[in-house]
Amino acid sequence: MSDFKGNREHWASRVGFILAAAGSAVGLGNIWRFPYMTGEHGGAAFIVIYLLAVFLLGYPLMVNETLIGRASQRDPVGAFKFLSPGRSWWLVGALGVFTGFVILSYYVVVAGWSIAYIYKVFIAVSTPGINHEAVFKSLITSVWEPIIWAAVFMILTISIISAGVVKGIQRWSLILMPILFIIILILIIRSNTLPGASDGLFYYIKPDFSHVSGRTFLAALSQAFFSLSLGMGVFITYGSYLKDHDEIPGSNGWIITLDTLVALMAGFAIFPAVFALGFKPAAGPGLVFITLPAVFAQMPLGIFFGVLFFILLAIAALTSAISLLEVVTAWLMDEKGWSRKKASILMGIIIFIAGIPAALGYSIFNGFSFPGLGTDILDTYDWFANCLFLPVGGLLAAIFTGYVWGTKQAIDEANKGKTGLAIGKFWSFLIRYIIPLLIFGIIIMGIYDSFKR
Ligand code: PFF
Repeated sequence: MSDFKGNREHWASRVGFILAAAGSAVGLGNIWRFPYMTGEHGGAAFIVIYLLAVFLLGYPLMVNETLIGRASQRDPVGAFKFLSPGRSWWLVGALGVFTGFVILSYYVVVAGWSIAYIYKVFIAVSTPGINHEAVFKSLITSVWEPIIWAAVFMILTISIISAGVVKGIQRWSLILMPILFIIILILIIRSNTLPGASDGLFYYIKPDFSHVSGRTFLAALSQAFFSLSLGMGVFITYGSYLKDHDEIPGSNGWIITLDTLVALMAGFAIFPAVFALGFKPAAGPGLVFITLPAVFAQMPLGIFFGVLFFILLAIAALTSAISLLEVVTAWLMDEKGWSRKKASILMGIIIFIAGIPAALGYSIFNGFSFPGLGTDILDTYDWFANCLFLPVGGLLAAIFTGYVWGTKQAIDEANKGKTGLAIGKFWSFLIRYIIPLLIFGIIIMGIYDSFKR
């Protein structure tokens, strides 16, 4: 294997890395999943548990993956080969690349719906008496529409990735992330200035410990994984574009803060408006694609805010999708010597094709599901990624550092850069003992939970 240090692209600035990685973390998981999970699992009680999950599990794991990437200057497969030559640990990287492939294949389908809604919400809000559920159903049960929108979204993703780390990922993250932040702020102000908004705030943040059970912890831990883009090589890949003395623990701190902030903000934008206009919060896609358009239809200037909301959703999805495609692209470039263009275009097309069954899951393949493993094809892809691949990937990466590469090496690598924030013994303790136990628990409980229902 050649040494990539010489000609590898690197982030042009610290902010570039932070915003690109925050772009990966901030996605559909923050904007539709976090708010309804919080509402369902006891409001502030869930938020406290989620924050614990982020600090005790998410942050140490993010640092771990970033360090593996920076130390090796390679894609996830090459990283493990480099740090543990001649052994099978590279399979952990391979699992990450595979997981990226699976997640992206269904992520583009939901992202495609979001793009479609930028104009559908316009029509829905301006047509009095329209049935919002029927609008959404007609989109997802159509054969061609979901496929076409997923293709549009994939083309956008490919065009950013093929432009490179600095000219593609970093450049677009620096443009899109501030826009995303501003849109969310505008929506929060609109939502909270509606009469009756406080009912929604109450629903969202009132701590209700009667809703807290083992499931709540499971939900918080797996949400932290997905939301922070952990367990599949995104941070190994993005970390590999950091230079030798770039600071890591502080940058990772920024990334988890931004991700958590946007998740919390999404709830502050959504629930006050939903309650103020007399709706009940639904769960899952129903909240975003059916309830919210109905809410916008009742709201002064609803067309404007509705379109803005779906632009927000599409931007959040785009900056996450690029990180998923980058993992697969980096693997082909580093391990197989492919050019960036060839790798991103070809893999983009293959992943898009792999996602077609998920896109057809509500039309041609309607009713097709695996018992226990989700309610439809898209849900089944999501089940494998969320309940299995991500936690297993994170677990093995922690064990690798804890017992193979060595936490001492990792800590030295972390504290190389000048940093106000240093990691040490506590981090090592978490990585070696606490995190493997916690993740093991998540995996077992997740599987048990799915089959019990
Ligand atoms: N973090 C993204 C979200 O919250 O929507 C999703 C995601 C992106 C998960 C990249 C995993 C990943 F590697």
